[in-house]
Amino acid sequence: MKKFKRYTVTAALPYANGPLHIGHIAGAYLPADTYVRFLRLRGEDVAFVGGSDEHGVAISIGAKKEGLSPRAYVDKYHEMMKKAFIDFGISFDIYSRTSNDLHYKTSQEFFLNVHQKDLLIEETSDQYFDEQEGIFLADRYIIGTCPNCGNTNAYGDQCEKCGTSLSPKQLINPRSTVSGNTPVLRPTKHWYFPLDKFEGWLREWLIEGHINDWKPNVYGQCKSWIEQGLLPRSITRDLDWGIPVPLPDAKGKVLYVWFDAPIGYISATKELKPADWEKYWKDPETRLIHFIGKDNIVFHCIIFPSMLKAAGDYILPDNVPANEFLNLEGDKLSTSRNHAVWLHEYLLEFPGRKDELRYVLNSISPETKDSDFTWKDYQQKVNSELVAILGNFVNRVMVLTWKYFDGKVPSGHELPATTEKRKRILELYNKAHTDLNRSVKAMIDALSHFRFREGQFEMMNLARIGNKFLADTEPWKVAKEDMEAVGCILNYALTVVGNISVACAPFLPEASSNIVRQLNGDALMDKWKM
Ligand code: 2FM
Ligand code: ZN
Repeated sequence: MKKFKRYTVTAALPYANGPLHIGHIAGAYLPADTYVRFLRLRGEDVAFVGGSDEHGVAISIGAKKEGLSPRAYVDKYHEMMKKAFIDFGISFDIYSRTSNDLHYKTSQEFFLNVHQKDLLIEETSDQYFDEQEGIFLADRYIIGTCPNCGNTNAYGDQCEKCGTSLSPKQLINPRSTVSGNTPVLRPTKHWYFPLDKFEGWLREWLIEGHINDWKPNVYGQCKSWIEQGLLPRSITRDLDWGIPVPLPDAKGKVLYVWFDAPIGYISATKELKPADWEKYWKDPETRLIHFIGKDNIVFHCIIFPSMLKAAGDYILPDNVPANEFLNLEGDKLSTSRNHAVWLHEYLLEFPGRKDELRYVLNSISPETKDSDFTWKDYQQKVNSELVAILGNFVNRVMVLTWKYFDGKVPSGHELPATTEKRKRILELYNKAHTDLNRSVKAMIDALSHFRFREGQFEMMNLARIGNKFLADTEPWKVAKEDMEAVGCILNYALTVVGNISVACAPFLPEASSNIVRQLNGDALMDKWKM
């Protein structure tokens, strides 16, 4: 792996329009947090930034539904999401929000920067207008029939049934989601980002440059997007909630949410590190990684990188390990149908059991295809893996150490191979040690390459190796005749426990601190620093 000086790790900014559920967690936040905890364990310099995405039509519509102002609405959900993230232990260095002043300023400066480079196209065109409400109908304010699949409730920006990205004028029988009326066309001026001009560069940077290191699901989606041909994209909207377009002739216009939201990563870093944020965004020795769900791929892999390239001196994402979707009990997670496991409810109903959810979600992480969460599987994974393999091993070693050595680590060095039994113990020790080293290496390699399921499996292997070592060496039998040999066995078993305490830190942070405390081994956490 190329050595970077520091890491900027982002996790998608969730819309502040509802509570978080396990699909959000499995999609972006748990993999991001696991990766960041791993980097910190290796002693890397990391800025882990997140925050709430507080603009866009989804917010305006949600606020209207709840009878709140957009401001009151985002305040409510921002606090709720922030609390759930903190309570669950997602270790953001900052969890910011896109309605704050610094973000307004940063986004407006970004817009002006590309505007001053003469890159933006200013164009007046006819767009749908709701005469009763007196508003232009952007994105999700308009629905109609999808020209591709016939879904009668496709949105103005996308058909959620067939996934096709749409523009409002492609909809058949368009209607306003606000009044239900048929809209009329009216001229309005907007600014467009010339994505088409970046096509050649995207082919080189992404299609040729990331064929080997990006996940096939991410790479494939991007390649097909680019190959279909890119068009200029409008980056402004006629809305009353959003960041005002910072130009004199732009009254009533705001930045499109997907223009300002990714800039939110930069504003959050500025807030976190006012003096040296630029190192995290402009130094080529910084590695930028975006964790997202698959519905955000195009924005993070094509549009935002083109914006960064246009702005000039920014680094580009080195990887975007997007996940597929998580289902619940065989069915799509759905906020509107309340088919979800809500994070704040889980935390209330299962206090002190965050590691369990982390473990289960990591083990079914939708890394290469959609996966399914079921409570039956949760129960099985907790009982027969977390408890029966890891908990059991650590507990057995602790109990035996207290029983035979009064809780003190016995000396284990160089047991003379004076008997057949001792020879056998030493052989088993060598075998376990070889296996352990292999698993640690495999775990580090998996985590370095965003394969979290595999990484966690290798971490659990350390406990499997430990259990097998105890079962094969049988210290409780050896204790009848050779305490020096028992010391050797338990010394090594404790070494395995020590390794587990470190290896499980990215996956099971609470278990890790618990084991470290039981071992009185604070220094262990420095063991894996590079
Ligand atoms: O899909 C979403 O929830 C978006 N709010 C993600 C934005 S990610 C970033 F660009 F801010
Ligand atoms: Zn469709």
